[in-house]
Amino acid sequence: MNYYIGIDLGTSACKGILLSREGTVLAEHSVSYPVSTPYTNWSEQNPADWYNAAVEILSVLSKGREAEVKGVGIAGQMHGLVMLDEDDEVIRPAILWNDGRSAPQTAYLNSLGTLPALTGNIAFPGFTAPKILWVRENEPENFARVKKICLPKDYLAYKLTGVFSSEYSDAAGMLLLDVQNKRWSPEMCEICGVTADMLPTLFESYEATGKLKAEYGLPNAILCAGAGDNAGAAVGTNTLRDGDCSISLGTSGTIFLPCDQFNTECGTALHNFCHSNGKFHLMGCILSAASCNKWWIRDILDTNYGDPAEPNYGKTGVYFLPYLTGERCPHNDVNARGAFIGLSMNTTREDMSLAVLEGVAYALRDCVEAGGVKIDKAVLCGGAVSKVWQTVLANILGADIYLTETEQGPSMGGALLAMTSCGEYATVYEAADATVRKTLAVKCDPHLVEIYDRGYGVYRQLYPALKGVRYD
Ligand code: XUL
Repeated sequence: MNYYIGIDLGTSACKGILLSREGTVLAEHSVSYPVSTPYTNWSEQNPADWYNAAVEILSVLSKGREAEVKGVGIAGQMHGLVMLDEDDEVIRPAILWNDGRSAPQTAYLNSLGTLPALTGNIAFPGFTAPKILWVRENEPENFARVKKICLPKDYLAYKLTGVFSSEYSDAAGMLLLDVQNKRWSPEMCEICGVTADMLPTLFESYEATGKLKAEYGLPNAILCAGAGDNAGAAVGTNTLRDGDCSISLGTSGTIFLPCDQFNTECGTALHNFCHSNGKFHLMGCILSAASCNKWWIRDILDTNYGDPAEPNYGKTGVYFLPYLTGERCPHNDVNARGAFIGLSMNTTREDMSLAVLEGVAYALRDCVEAGGVKIDKAVLCGGAVSKVWQTVLANILGADIYLTETEQGPSMGGALLAMTSCGEYATVYEAADATVRKTLAVKCDPHLVEIYDRGYGVYRQLYPALKGVRYD
C-alpha cells in the first residue's frame, strides 16, 4: 500500500492525517502549542514548536508502515515571518498572520500606490512585507543578521528536506510576489531591503521539492511544495474551479473563490493570490472566527455549553462585532475591537451566544459584499461547526452549505498535493474529484435570508459608528 501524510501547520495546533490513495483517513494526530502576545496587537510563535510537533506527527502516523509512506504535504498558516541567520538559526520568534504591529509600515507601503501593479494586492499588517519593514526599523541588529526569509511551512520544509523552497499560493501572501507573473518582484524586494537570494525557490504546490532527510525514518517519502492553509483546504474540499466557494472557520475565517484567470482589478477587500492548482483565487479573511466562539463559551461563560437550543435566528436584536484581534478584510484596521451591541434587560445568554455566531457570519458577508462577488453555495471546512452555526452561515450568506467527510481540509489538501507529486493522480483536479466527498448540510431558507438581510443592514452600520474610538 502507498500512504500519504498531510500536515496542517495551524495557529493553535499542528494536525496531521494519514491518507490512503482512495482518500480514506486512516489515522490522525495533533499537537498543540501556544501563541505569545507580549504586547497589544502582537502575535508570535516559536518555530521550534512547529518543528517538534511536525516530527512527532510524522513518527506517530507512519509507525509500522514507514517504508510505505510515499509523500508528505504541508499546508501552513500564511504570511508568518521567519528569519534565519547564516547558520540557519531562527533569529527571533515568528511574527504571525494576525499580528498588527506593522500598521505604520502597511500605511507606508499603501501610500506608494505601486503595490497593486507590482503584486496584484494592497498591503495589510498581517502580510509578510510590512513585517520585514518593521524588523528593519525596530530591530536593526536582527535585520542585519538575516540571510533567509521564509513562511512557516517553508521553514518546516527546509528542516525536513534541506531544500529551501516555497510555492505560489503562500508566497503570494508575502507581498513580495508578482502574482500575475509568478516570480519574486525585484521592486518589492528593494522596497523591503531584501535580496532575491534570501528568498526560497518557487514551485507549484503539487511539485515535489525533495526527499525527507534520513533522520525522519521515512526512506521513500518525498515532500511536495504544499500550500498556504487556505489554498490547501481548497484542495481538501475540492474548491478548484471558477464558481466554487469554500468557507473555513478556524482561528481565522476565510471565504475562498477560485478563478481560472488572474484578476487584474485589484480590489481592497479581497486578496488576489495564486491557487494550488496552478491558477488563481480571491479570498476574504477575517481575523477571529471559531476563536470568537471559543473565547465566548470557554473563556467568558466558562462552560462547555454549546449552541442555543431554540435559536431565535436574526431576531434577538443583539449584534456582535468579532474584531477581537482587530480586523483584516474588509476594514484593514488593527485597532477595531469586538463589541456586543443592542443589549437589554431581556437579553439572554442564548441571545448573546447566537449573536457571536451571527457576528462572524456577518463579517464574512462584509467580505463578500465589499468584494462585489456572488455566492450561492459553499463548502464548509474547519473544526466541528454546529448545525446552528451552519444554518446561520447559510442564511446570512444566502448560500447552501455543504460539508466534506473529513473536517481536516488543509491536511487533506496537503496529502492530495503529495499524491499528485507522486503521480497517484495526474492533476490536483483528479486527486480531489476521486477522493473528496461532499454532502448538502443546510439549504438556505428564503424566509431566514430575508430576516438576515435586514440584520445585515443593521450590522453594517456598527463598525463605521464605532470606528476611530480608542479604548485604551
Ligand atoms: C489568510 C490568513 C489566515 C491564516 C490562518 O490570509 O491570514 O487564514 O492563513 O492560518
